[in-house]
Amino acid sequence: MCGIFGYVGQRTDAAQIVFDGLKTLEYRGYDSWGIAVRDQKSETKDQKLVVEKEIGKLPDKIPQSSIFNLQSSLALGHTRWATHGGVTDANAHPHLDCQKHIAVVHNGIIENFQELKKELIEKGHKFISETDTEVLPHLIEEEMKSGSKGFATAVRDTFNMLQGMNAIVVAYAPSREIVAAKNGSPLVVGIGKDELLIASDAAGISKYTKDVIFLADHQMVILGETVKLLELPKGNEIKQEITRLTWHFEDSVKGNYPHFLLKEIHEQPRVIEQIALTYAEEAKKLASLIDKAFGTFMLGCGTASYAALAGTYLFSSIAKKHINFTIGSEFKYLEDYVKKGTLVIPISQSGETIDVVEPVEKARQKGATIAALVNVLGSTLYRQADHKFLLGAGQEKAVVATKSFMSMFAILFLTTYTIINKAGVAKKELLNASANVKAILKDSYQATIKKLAAEIKNREHIYILGRGLSYATALEASLKMKEASYVHAEGFAGGELKHGVIALIEKGTPCIVFAPLDETYEEIISNAQEVKARGGFIIGIGPRNNEVFDRFLETADCKEATLLPQVAIAQLLAYNLALARGIEDPDKPRNLAKSVTVK
Ligand code: AGP
Repeated sequence: MCGIFGYVGQRTDAAQIVFDGLKTLEYRGYDSWGIAVRDQKSETKDQKLVVEKEIGKLPDKIPQSSIFNLQSSLALGHTRWATHGGVTDANAHPHLDCQKHIAVVHNGIIENFQELKKELIEKGHKFISETDTEVLPHLIEEEMKSGSKGFATAVRDTFNMLQGMNAIVVAYAPSREIVAAKNGSPLVVGIGKDELLIASDAAGISKYTKDVIFLADHQMVILGETVKLLELPKGNEIKQEITRLTWHFEDSVKGNYPHFLLKEIHEQPRVIEQIALTYAEEAKKLASLIDKAFGTFMLGCGTASYAALAGTYLFSSIAKKHINFTIGSEFKYLEDYVKKGTLVIPISQSGETIDVVEPVEKARQKGATIAALVNVLGSTLYRQADHKFLLGAGQEKAVVATKSFMSMFAILFLTTYTIINKAGVAKKELLNASANVKAILKDSYQATIKKLAAEIKNREHIYILGRGLSYATALEASLKMKEASYVHAEGFAGGELKHGVIALIEKGTPCIVFAPLDETYEEIISNAQEVKARGGFIIGIGPRNNEVFDRFLETADCKEATLLPQVAIAQLLAYNLALARGIEDPDKPRNLAKSVTVK
């Protein structure tokens, strides 16, 4: 789950271009970074690459260090989320060969790196890091040693030796070329005027060009004077499929917001409204796929799994349809009865989550129809799917997912009502919910949430209750608290309280209760009374206040879509808790990354 950015072209500030590009990719991993450049001035046959690598996040401004003062038209960079080897300068990427002609950055895990490394050490190669990645520049160097293989062929043959899901990008100083190959993690090539770019996603590239090639698995690309797209393992040249990007670079900057998390929370009213006003045809398509299917499965991970869980409640209570739900990483243990005619609906913001991509591939091979709900155009899941439903949330940079969840739920909500030919009801309630989230984002309301966050900031445990659809709300809210503020927040079904969790309630223990005006209202209120009786501090979130609540955060009543303003309140509470607890950067929670591309 790393970020890769490379540049080769006419401009001579390649190091700065790559630095800026890596800044747009930091959400993919941010424990260390590095950039390799080819110093234009020393145009010698023995052209070497100059590398700078640092622990920690990229500084806000371009450092005044040596590589940024070099004239260079080729540079390659990486921002890391450690898998093999601790967070050290030596383990940061790029990694070089013995001659410093070859620089490699990598995303993935080379499962057979130990045996490859052993052979290279026996051949005299010197290693300075604990990473799996460092075998790559030495393997390529070894392949080129005999002189019979050119750079691209050496990269091809090296890539074909690897086991596991990997994306590698290699810069070669003598020929001023970049070669990349992938089987797993995403890579996008940007085709600009007199320049070529490569990156883990299109965001940073959109500043230079809208014309991109999304690399598919088992493809390799050579970037030099021109672009060559090749098919692996043989390396035969294939036709390039150029996609025109729809996102704008502006989406990937914070603007006046202190954090992307807050910016994206503020974008939610527009995202919900857009689904209500423009998604009817897409919802009809998805509804008819579900109607025709022999069994439907929804799956996702993290926040996307909670959107899928909420979907099962909606389809059951509104459309009287049983739709299965499973967590992505568990699907492979449950997909024995997936067969031709089964509809599989993977839900994912990034479209790259390996715990969803892999089981979906297996389901596809079993003849299942794949209808993917994804936010990223050209992502692996987007390309895997038979039917592609874009979330339309725009680029989401904060690791803590917010607006993508809103669009996932809004699409499922609209589709459910479309199945019973009442799409108008869903449209009305989504517009109601969008207006209510807008009201909650007002300074006065946010001040109330900020005050509450200050009140509970020193509590290490928060329990969150919901029944029915609100069980999914409780799970999503608890994930936001955990990710943003590092508080141990546990979401659970209200009915489970007396079966164990209530033992954890002490005097003053904060307990959030989601109480929409539906069939769960009475029972969830009595759960709240049981917690209060043990000293719990009850925070009620919903359309109607109740004496059991010590604090009440009001929402409008938007039928099942009341979940949207309720989740918006939970997001703002998590964000303000993070600030109140002094968390430096809520956009980049420790140990996490935006898309989980390794198992
Ligand atoms: C949510 O805030 C987290 N970033 C995480 O749980 C995320 O939802 C999960 O990794 C799935 O990501 P995806 O939607 O990109 O597949």
